[in-house]
Amino acid sequence: MPRHIAFIMDGNGRWAQKRLLPRSAGHEAGIGNLRKIADKCFELGIGVVSIYAFSTENWKRPKDEVDKLFSLLKRFFLKELKRMKENGIRLSVMGDLSAFPADAREATERALAETAQNTARVLNIGLNYGGRAEILNAAKKMIEAGEREITEETFSKYLYTADLPDPDLLVRTCEKRLSNFMLWQCAYTEIYFSDTPWPSFGERALMKALAEYAGRQRKFGGLKGN
Ligand code: IPE
Ligand code: IPE
Ligand code: MG
Repeated sequence: MPRHIAFIMDGNGRWAQKRLLPRSAGHEAGIGNLRKIADKCFELGIGVVSIYAFSTENWKRPKDEVDKLFSLLKRFFLKELKRMKENGIRLSVMGDLSAFPADAREATERALAETAQNTARVLNIGLNYGGRAEILNAAKKMIEAGEREITEETFSKYLYTADLPDPDLLVRTCEKRLSNFMLWQCAYTEIYFSDTPWPSFGERALMKALAEYAGRQRKFGGLKGN
């Protein structure tokens, strides 16, 4: 079982289009599925679940769609807060919150503050997140802090994921690319691609991905069994 699983949830638009629904319905279904899949992962004993919800490039989309996405995310945080507290889930957000619409930022900050003490599990969401922006931001923070020892370990401390292990398994639906997600952290992550659009990526699909992961041989540049 991975310690940390990451998902690039893609295909919400395609899912909706196929059903002759507006793209917003796809995002709604996608957020619903995020809740289900994250729950299942935690139930299986996976400690960290990362999700790519909005990229630094997604601002290119029509304003209506961006607004809808942030309003869904706000609702998700407001609705999930109680359950996150009950289940010992700490929320972590990767990305620059300052660019969010004010109400979405408030809901996010509240959920971050109120779950900060939880230790059992982490739900880590990429929101206005880009791997390149994260790396640049870390470099700037490192210089500002006057860091002298420049190593992979010290650099990692300036990333959004400072206190998290690297993902063991990354699941991407619909496309076969990283789209600027966790570029530093995925150096040795196993990648699983699925053609199923995210809103239809259910428990069975998750179990299939986990079974394939279990059969993978990780070598980290060494030799078999190293
Ligand atoms: C992924 O679904 C969700 C976000 C990027 C926020 P898309 O909206 O990218 O769905 P497709 O790729 O158009 O099907
Ligand atoms: C990646 O999906 C971003 C998120 C899932 C949030 P996109 O739909 O934006 O990625 P591309 O444009 O197909 O690479
Ligand atoms: Mg997409």
